[in-house]
Amino acid sequence: MILDWNSGKFGFNAANDSDVPVEDRYQLLIDAVPDYAIFMLDDAGRVASWNSGVQKIKGYTPEEIIGRHFSIFYTPEDVAADKPGRELALATAPGRAEDRGWRVRRDGSRFWADVTITAVYDSSGALVGFAKITRDMTERMRLAELEHANELSTQMQAAREDEQRRIARELHDDLGQQLTALKMGVAALEQQIVPGATNAPQRQIDNMLASLRRIAADLRPPMLDDLGLGAALEWLTDDFTQRFHVKVALRLAVDDSAVTPFASATIYRIVQEALTNVARHAQASEVTIDMSNDAHGWRLGIEDNGRGTLVEEACAPGSLGLLGMRERVRQLRGTLTIDSAPGMGFRIVAHIPLGGIRLAATSPD
Ligand SMILES: Nc1ncnc2c1ncn2[C@@H]1O[C@H](COP(=O)(O)OP(=O)(O)OP(=O)(O)O)[C@@H](O)[C@H]1O
Ligand SMILES: [Mg+2]
Repeated sequence: MILDWNSGKFGFNAANDSDVPVEDRYQLLIDAVPDYAIFMLDDAGRVASWNSGVQKIKGYTPEEIIGRHFSIFYTPEDVAADKPGRELALATAPGRAEDRGWRVRRDGSRFWADVTITAVYDSSGALVGFAKITRDMTERMRLAELEHANELSTQMQAAREDEQRRIARELHDDLGQQLTALKMGVAALEQQIVPGATNAPQRQIDNMLASLRRIAADLRPPMLDDLGLGAALEWLTDDFTQRFHVKVALRLAVDDSAVTPFASATIYRIVQEALTNVARHAQASEVTIDMSNDAHGWRLGIEDNGRGTLVEEACAPGSLGLLGMRERVRQLRGTLTIDSAPGMGFRIVAHIPLGGIRLAATSPD
């Protein structure tokens, strides 16, 4: 490889029979990889050549950068610590230095770079300079961070479900048994003290038991574990109709035997939140819940005939219910759409791929 210090361009001195000079062809080649900033540094670390990626990634034009020391790309902290000098020394000793870290663009903004510096020698073994390849990894790093955050939130959700299941069991099995025993004791005492007394204390205990069962079922519907998603949704919708006098048509056309506990709990919570919204906002007389599947995944639709709203208003920041629903669907790798208009009811449709239906998030990997 030769380097024309005047033009600042790379080249090979191999013979060829094309009309395009080899140097130009080489420049064309390295210009064709705009996602990498590729340059040559002289032996003192000054920029001697460039490709189009330099402008794209670092924001400098060739005129601005040729002849400048490459430490201009480093953060002030790294320059103070002489990182550029150490990297050149490292590139010279074993012949190559690799680094990942923050670098600075012309406008002062920072990007996360993947950098390789390789020492280049001529045929007599004398150091000519350094080839430096920089790749902007900022976007990729952000994506990795997002993926990590997503995984964390899925695991937190799974941990919360586990904890709720535990509390629900304790409430039901422990406190529930004790209340039942107390009721029997009170009944016996009443008969001893005032034979034929009204059984008001017993009724109070019955009410306590009913509240306790409701709290436990809200935390974790027992039938979700014992009978599966379909039965749990039937219980939820019946309970909703009784409490709010809104008819619910529940159409389940899915085989729920393949759904994992995490996916069932997630789908259950989505329907629960949607019904809570119907009770709070819709003034509806009827809700239709449709769950069906095809070869790709499940479709869950929840639609009411209430007053509806503008979708932009429903999705305004600060409303956590719809946001939580979206998050839950995303955890199952699905998508959620909302459709509504004033006077036209409210419809939520979730598409969940089969991979999400079979997702077991309770086992952290
Ligand atoms: N079924 C519905 N019919 C009409 N409007 C609805 C319906 N569901 C939601 N909305 C509208 O969308 C908004 C956002 O709902 P979201 O569940 O996110 O928040 P919220 O119910 O107001 O509060 P929370 O965070 O406690 O759930 C509601 O405030 C309401 O205006
Ligand atoms: Mg809500």
